[in-house]
Amino acid sequence: MLAGLQNLTFEFGARAILEEATWHIHPGERIGLIGYNGTGKSTLLKLFAGEYLPSKGTVERSRSTTIGYLHQDLLSFDTSESILQVAMGAFERVMQVQKEIEELGNELEKEENEEKLIRYTDLLSEMDVLDGYNVEHKTEDVLHGLGFKQEDLHRPYKEFSGGWRMRVLLAKMILMKPDLLMLDEPTNHLDLPSIEWLEKYLLHYQGAVIIVSHDKYFLDRMVNKVVELYQRKLHFYTGNYTYYQQEKEIRVEMQQRAFENQQDFIRQQERFIERFKAKASKAAQAQSVQKRLDKIDRVEEASIERPNMRINFSVEKTPGKVICTLKNLKKSFGPIEILNGTDAEIERGDKIALIGANGKGKSTLLRIIADRETFDGERNWGHNVAESFYAQHQLEHLKLDNNLVEELQTAGSKKTDLELRTILGCFLFSGDDVDKKIRVLSGGEKARVALAKTIISKSNFLMLDEPTNHLDMHSVDLLAESLNNYEGSLILVSHDRYFISKTANKIWEIKDGKVVEFKGGYEEWVEWKERMEKIAKQQEAKPVTKKENSNTKTIEKEKSSPVASTPNQSIDKEKQKEKKKLQRQFEELEQKTAQLKEEKLKVESDLANPEIYSNVSKFQETEKKYNKIIAELTSAESQYEKAFELLMSHE
Ligand SMILES: Nc1ncnc2c1ncn2[C@@H]1O[C@H](COP(=O)(O)OP(=O)(O)OP(=O)(O)O)[C@@H](O)[C@H]1O
Ligand SMILES: [Mg+2]
Repeated sequence: MLAGLQNLTFEFGARAILEEATWHIHPGERIGLIGYNGTGKSTLLKLFAGEYLPSKGTVERSRSTTIGYLHQDLLSFDTSESILQVAMGAFERVMQVQKEIEELGNELEKEENEEKLIRYTDLLSEMDVLDGYNVEHKTEDVLHGLGFKQEDLHRPYKEFSGGWRMRVLLAKMILMKPDLLMLDEPTNHLDLPSIEWLEKYLLHYQGAVIIVSHDKYFLDRMVNKVVELYQRKLHFYTGNYTYYQQEKEIRVEMQQRAFENQQDFIRQQERFIERFKAKASKAAQAQSVQKRLDKIDRVEEASIERPNMRINFSVEKTPGKVICTLKNLKKSFGPIEILNGTDAEIERGDKIALIGANGKGKSTLLRIIADRETFDGERNWGHNVAESFYAQHQLEHLKLDNNLVEELQTAGSKKTDLELRTILGCFLFSGDDVDKKIRVLSGGEKARVALAKTIISKSNFLMLDEPTNHLDMHSVDLLAESLNNYEGSLILVSHDRYFISKTANKIWEIKDGKVVEFKGGYEEWVEWKERMEKIAKQQEAKPVTKKENSNTKTIEKEKSSPVASTPNQSIDKEKQKEKKKLQRQFEELEQKTAQLKEEKLKVESDLANPEIYSNVSKFQETEKKYNKIIAELTSAESQYEKAFELLMSHE
């Protein structure tokens, strides 16, 4: 065992976060830690890391176990050291040895000393063993790999934004290679390509990993075990997120059935008692039945408790037909050109999702519209537009020492404290919560405060940059729903494809420095995009003839009204067929790995059975069986991964 909790209880004041939790983490496990916002996931990681001490019970950790911990709240760590120094913190021992060598060297220059000389040579050889002279070079390599330029490496850490800070800390951890890696919502700070980079890295990570995340896709790819923190208890599932969902449904159903059966039994016994307690001849018996009834362990009803935010974006005044026009927008960062003279218009009723290849241009364009970025060109607001901007890393702008009401007051509305408390109530902050300081809030709670601030403004045009970050999946659904009902207009950036598909009625893609508009939802856009690519490919395959020109025209035409026309239904059908086939293969492989896992568990318990391990031939036979299962499982899992990737590429 690497680390674990034994009968652990933890409280913040009167509020219990965990009760009597026991959990053992084994080498190589890949665990997803999930739960609604504010249930205590980050707190649990801090308990493992030794940042909090339990009220009862123990945190167990073998002395040699190394732990790497990436905080959810990146602002909790700040330093003016250079990012190279921060990342090199991974080599604690090397740094120590190096320092001592320097000191001893100086001393030895002043006076000869046999003892110190021996120590000095010892340290030199330890430095050799640790490969200490190469650490700077190794660190630079990893930082380059994560996208840092050589000239950045000596800039102070505190100058970097959230996403880049996270990469520095990630680099440190990669170099440390801890036995247990704990990542608290790592995808919140990354754009899609970096998420893909992280996925690849984690897939090959040798140590155990605990990931806290609200991203279903990410979890499904990364973990083979799920631990849910729900109502102060830990619940364990051996499978990925999809498995957890199915299994949880079964467990809830079973519990409900057990509850109903027990209720029937109890009612029957109570009827018996009722009837006979007054009868002298049966009174003693009735009493003993009563006693037995008092003692039984009651099964609880399986109601699922879910936090239901009431998000109600309302508008105060109706704007004109045009919200905003952009003319000849140009924007570059040094040599990198983002927009090279593009026009676009936002109309009343538009719900636009901004999509772009590398994540760089999207936030920039949003910030240009929101007036947070300089640019060349024209931006004109329409009549009566009241706008409100939810920035990426919005949470980092909350004042940590404010309490919740004070924070909402900074939004500049004329609401009374009582009204503000009512709004906070809709965002699940009640009673004492309102007096909490922003500093102690969980990630999701901070996001809810930031959302509440956006709502107070009653704007008729919202600009939202990654609004789903930190929110649990249920809250993401609620947010999508309320944005759907919102009477105003909006433009948003999100790396959550599900969320985009639920909210957008227009897609803006930034391509070659231009905004390309698509009038339709995300799924239609994806289909259209694929169709375009197919046609383009077919064209490439054909020799250049006059016909090609007319084809290009159809593309142009389609661009202007992509939703209406469906030129190539047979291609669509084929795609559907192939997707179905892939889906089937994927499900089969999923079943197969689940089955193999079960077999593996069974054989493992056989191996631990004294009857078997004390009998050499039986043991060898079982061991052989075990190795075979492991081999099959490894191959099935890699096939499963491949099938998943294929399927994803068809999504
Ligand atoms: N120092 C503290 N004092 C009082 N309450 C605290 C403190 N730190 C955290 N809390 C509260 O404990 C609860 C659990 O917080 P935690 O950050 O562990 O949640 P979480 O599960 O990580 O949530 P999220 O998904 O939103 O990140 C929250 O309600 C939070 O407000
Ligand atoms: Mg958290």
